[in-house]
Amino acid sequence: MATGTLITVEGIDGAGKTTLAGGVVRSLSEQAGIDIHLLREPGGVELAERIRDLVKDPSLKVGGRAEALLYAAARAELVEEAITPLLLSGAWVLLDRYVDSSLAYQGAARGLGVEEVLAINSFATGGLVPARTLLLRLDPAIAAARMEQRGEAKDRLEAEGEAFFSQIADAYDGLADAEPERFRVLDATLGQDELLLAGLDALSDLLP
Ligand code: TYD
Repeated sequence: MATGTLITVEGIDGAGKTTLAGGVVRSLSEQAGIDIHLLREPGGVELAERIRDLVKDPSLKVGGRAEALLYAAARAELVEEAITPLLLSGAWVLLDRYVDSSLAYQGAARGLGVEEVLAINSFATGGLVPARTLLLRLDPAIAAARMEQRGEAKDRLEAEGEAFFSQIADAYDGLADAEPERFRVLDATLGQDELLLAGLDALSDLLP
């Protein structure tokens, strides 16, 4: 039986997940003395990092079904090689994206169906569900402006239009409504410090 705790951070591109995840890990580790490991999806282990390069490559043709299966394959390896052993050791794992990303991006926005994508992901993860999911909610237009400001080249998914990200945002809201015990929705327009406090507050009931 796994005794550790799995936490995930979700949201559309540009919502600030990575900054929040870094802050939460630092606080829980330094202030609460928790053994916590930050991993990102797709990636975290060698096979998944290579799949990450494939799915993000703007020059590659990747159909929706292949895309869903690639993310699921990367996830399967990450769960088996990294997450499960950490949870078995009693550690906490904070994941920057997990199954809900596939449900929102591939299931809803790519139109593959949330139930169908959930089915392949249940297979991929052996049914591993996070104890808590922090959802950063942000208007897709604001997220697009933030990414524009960052000035980085867009990967294959980031190059999609606002309609795509609106569908993802709506799908995330639907997932959060369906599982209020697991999800905590955070306002991504908050300043970095306030957002971190809100994130930590949303985890407080899980702390030892
Ligand atoms: P992201 O966390 O945005 O990486 P980065 O911040 O370094 O760009 O994730 C990469 C992209 O993959 C992002 O556009 C969301 C997408 N994605 C899916 O479509 N499905 C998934 O299951 C996952 C994990 C990510």
